This record gives sequence, structure tokens and C-alpha cells, in this order.
Amino acid sequence: MGLLRTYFNNTRKPEGVLGRGMLAGMNREHARVSDWGMGHLSDIHASSIVELGCGGGRNVGKLLKMYPAARMVAVDYSAESLAKTAQVNQAFVTEGRCELLEADVSHLPLEDGTFDLATAFETVYFWPGPVESFAEVHRVLADGGAFLIVNESDGTNPSDDRWKKIIDSLQIYTAEQLHDHLAQVGFSQVTVDHDPQRHRLCILARK
Ligand SMILES: C[S@@+](CC[C@H](N)C(=O)[O-])C[C@H]1O[C@@H](n2cnc3c(N)ncnc32)[C@H](O)[C@@H]1O
Repeated sequence: MGLLRTYFNNTRKPEGVLGRGMLAGMNREHARVSDWGMGHLSDIHASSIVELGCGGGRNVGKLLKMYPAARMVAVDYSAESLAKTAQVNQAFVTEGRCELLEADVSHLPLEDGTFDLATAFETVYFWPGPVESFAEVHRVLADGGAFLIVNESDGTNPSDDRWKKIIDSLQIYTAEQLHDHLAQVGFSQVTVDHDPQRHRLCILARK
């Protein structure tokens, strides 16, 4: 259990050689659910994006291609994640379209009302609160800004219980719980797409 635990805790905060392996795996394994989630952005126009818990950075590149006029801040509290994001998105970083920021989502060193779009793929499970973290996202979004949450676990799959035993502080939320937490911090329109067959969910909330 020791090595398994150490390895899978790299989903929470990738570190060292195991973290690097995990990041490469997440870029591959999360692609399908991430693309499904991004399919919900067709009505969202954005010129400034914050990608929260960016991990290996695969979604940073996808979003910057989807929004060719946008700039992005890619946030993660893992230095290993940011290094991988920089490597995968070297051209966007060099061009100045992608800035890397090492920070905890619950305390973002970013100005109020800065972004049109905030995204969170497979990461809110680990965020402090999460109400305090969602309040930070709400703070940094401009009025009318959108917050996209994409999770491949919907809190209703009994087989996910094993992950809670292995990964420290893992919280798997239901769509209803996320909806309520978002409403609590002031998001006005919260649209939920829940796929109970695949146990995945996508939430789009507006400030
Ligand atoms: C499971 S990975 C998902 C990575 C990527 N979004 C994806 O879909 O492949 C979770 C990422 O969120 C980051 N993370 C978790 N909690 C965080 C927090 N409180 N603040 C910033 N980053 C966080 C982790 O370091 C990790 O890189």
C-alpha cells in the first residue's frame, strides 16, 4: 500500500520522478473527459483565461488553440506540474500567451475581476474548502465571466471509495454539492451536465 499511496498522491500534488510520470499519464488519460468538458464552451467568448490546477498542461494548449486571441495564466501549486506545462506549451510561453503561476487556488495572487474564463479539469477534488477556493475563483472573474468544472468522478460511483482510502484529503463531490457551493459564493447561473452512465460531470457557472 505504501508505494501505491505515494504514487497516487501525485494526483493531488505531483512531485519528483513519480510526479513526472503521473503528469505524462494524466495528459493522456484525462484527454477524453477534458475535451467533452471543453465542448460546453461554444457560447463562451474569452480573451483572458485562468487554467486552475493545470497539471501537465495539455488543456492549456487546447484552450489557447480554441481561443486564438486569448492570454492565459496557468496555475498550479506543484512546481513539477508547472515545469511540465511549460515544456508542453513552450511556444505559447515564449510568445507571451501563457504565464505560469505557482499558487494555491484558495489564495490566488491575482487581481479582482481579471478573467473572462476560469477552468478546472480533474482538480477541484483537492482544493481547500472548496467554498473558500470557489470564492477566490469568483473574485478573480470579471462580471459575466464563466467558470468551467470538469470531473470524471461524480460522487455516486461506489468504486471510487478506494481512491478516498489511497489519496489524502480527496473529496469527490456530487453535481448537487458543487452546484450548492457555487451558488453559495455568488455564482448566479450554474448549469450542470451530469452523465450518470460514465459518472462524469461538467458544470458551467457564471458570475
Ligand atoms: C489530478 S491533477 C489534474 C491536472 C490537469 N488539470 C488534468 O486534467 O490533467 C490535479 C492538479 O491540480 C493541482 N492542484 C490540486 N490542488 C491545488 C490547489 N489547491 N492549488 C493549485 N493547484 C492544485 C495538482 O498539483 C495537480 O497538478
